[in-house]
Amino acid sequence: MRIGVPAEKPDQPLVAATPDTVTKLIKLGYSVLVQAGAGALASYPDYQYEDAGAQIVDRDAVYHADIVLTLDAPEPYDLDKMHADSVLVSRLAPARNEALMEKLAARNITALAMDVVPRISRAQAMDVLSSQANVAGYRAIIEAANEFVRLFTGQVTAAGKMPPAHVYVIGAGVAGLAAIGTANSMGAEVFASDVRPEVAEQVNSMGARFVPLLAAQEKSEDGYAKAMTAEQAKLANEVYAKQSATCDIVITTANIPGRTSPILLDDEAIAAMKPGSVIVDMAAANGGNTTQTVAGQKVVTANGVTIIGWTDLAGRLPAQSSQLYAQNVVNLLKLMTPEKDGQLVIDLNDEIVRTITLTDDGQILWPPPPIQVSAAPAAATEDPVDHAKAAADAAREAAAAKQKRFAWIGLAVVVAAALVLVTPTMALGHYMVFVLAIVVGFYVITGVAHSLHTPLMSVTNAISGIILVGAISQVGSSNLAVTIISFLAIVVASINIFGGFRVTGRMLTMFQKG
Ligand code: NAI
Repeated sequence: MRIGVPAEKPDQPLVAATPDTVTKLIKLGYSVLVQAGAGALASYPDYQYEDAGAQIVDRDAVYHADIVLTLDAPEPYDLDKMHADSVLVSRLAPARNEALMEKLAARNITALAMDVVPRISRAQAMDVLSSQANVAGYRAIIEAANEFVRLFTGQVTAAGKMPPAHVYVIGAGVAGLAAIGTANSMGAEVFASDVRPEVAEQVNSMGARFVPLLAAQEKSEDGYAKAMTAEQAKLANEVYAKQSATCDIVITTANIPGRTSPILLDDEAIAAMKPGSVIVDMAAANGGNTTQTVAGQKVVTANGVTIIGWTDLAGRLPAQSSQLYAQNVVNLLKLMTPEKDGQLVIDLNDEIVRTITLTDDGQILWPPPPIQVSAAPAAATEDPVDHAKAAADAAREAAAAKQKRFAWIGLAVVVAAALVLVTPTMALGHYMVFVLAIVVGFYVITGVAHSLHTPLMSVTNAISGIILVGAISQVGSSNLAVTIISFLAIVVASINIFGGFRVTGRMLTMFQKG
């Protein structure tokens, strides 16, 4: 089958295939037609597509292909060029585009919506909302830094001390976590809140401090947050206002699918912020998370707070965003081309394919049957707004945990004393080494970042070197059983040591920049 890649509308700098993904589409058995100049705004010139094996053609030829890849729904005059039984792969926002679906079904075009990929592990590689939000979260911090009148990182210089910028991220989803990581890497002190308390661990692992809301999580069947009750929202907004007043940069990302974005910062909260502070409202396109956001614009309030409402954050990094979108499309086509023979198979028994197929065979298939998603949070078990009870429970739990800790320490002291008493004097030295090893081990492990614990564990496999030394010294024994056991010990310990180093090496490459 032939895949067509048109140029997008003039205000859309992204392109649905890059030279890299063209190569991958050709490997799947497809031939690829790219409209002349389609990748120009994303810095992918025509010759790179040609080198990758694509044919450069005009717009009509692209839309006559069997499969058309776009970022956004084509204009009606372009849709009219598509032939019956062809396939459109695009972001189609089915919840707001009923007329478009009717047209596609009437024209017998199969429509696959990239923006409704279910949030299940298997579909992560095709999730365009996540890949674009990731880039947008990064860019939100760059935009904020561009407007901010101070440094992000703290410094002590001969001319004086400069404190780090304080960044507050509200909504720690994909975009929020990317913003946290970026701000942290630029040296800022980062704080974050979310209605879903289970994200606290992810927030911490990205180097930020979680600011709890005390308003309990809302259970969602689709992995996204649900709207809070008015009382929960009021309490949460008090936390946002208080924290924002102490911070320099606020990134808001709160989004409830299918609804206008919730207001997190009202006029009063914005008025309490410091002059020179910057808010980047990532939810601007959907109404905004502040009362003063204007979609697509930058406004400066009377008290000197800049509110950025760009709705094209991912589009401001077009080469990267195109590459991610195009790779998401390749991953989908891989799933749908099982024989790698350039033939697209619409298997409606596959839950991913079923969910994203809006129209097929002249029928509208939207909405799909619900599926259980992995990102759905666990059921809330407590009354969401009973804060007094929650605080009392938390205090009780903390006291119980403290008691337990003291009990364990006491027990450890008793056991250690008993061991000293029963240990023969000549072995007391070993005992001391053992205790010192525990102390040193404790400080080494707690001094290593959480994210590096797994590589640390695998490198400690090298301790098996002791077994290796012992086994080598015994392998030449005259006793056959000892020789066999020593040989086996050498083999197993070697696997453990060299495998451990290999795993550590591979893991550490994941942490290396570039
Ligand atoms: P997401 O659904 O993964 O994350 C949103 C997070 O906000 C979730 O963790 C959710 O629990 C949290 N949240 C929802 N309501 C909240 C509230 N009232 N208080 C605190 N937290 C709340 O969404 P994702 O993919 O991270 O996108 C975030 C936002 O960025 C969306 O509004 C999306 O439309 C927008 N976006 C904007 C772009 C732009 O150019 N401006 C580009 C890409 C995404």
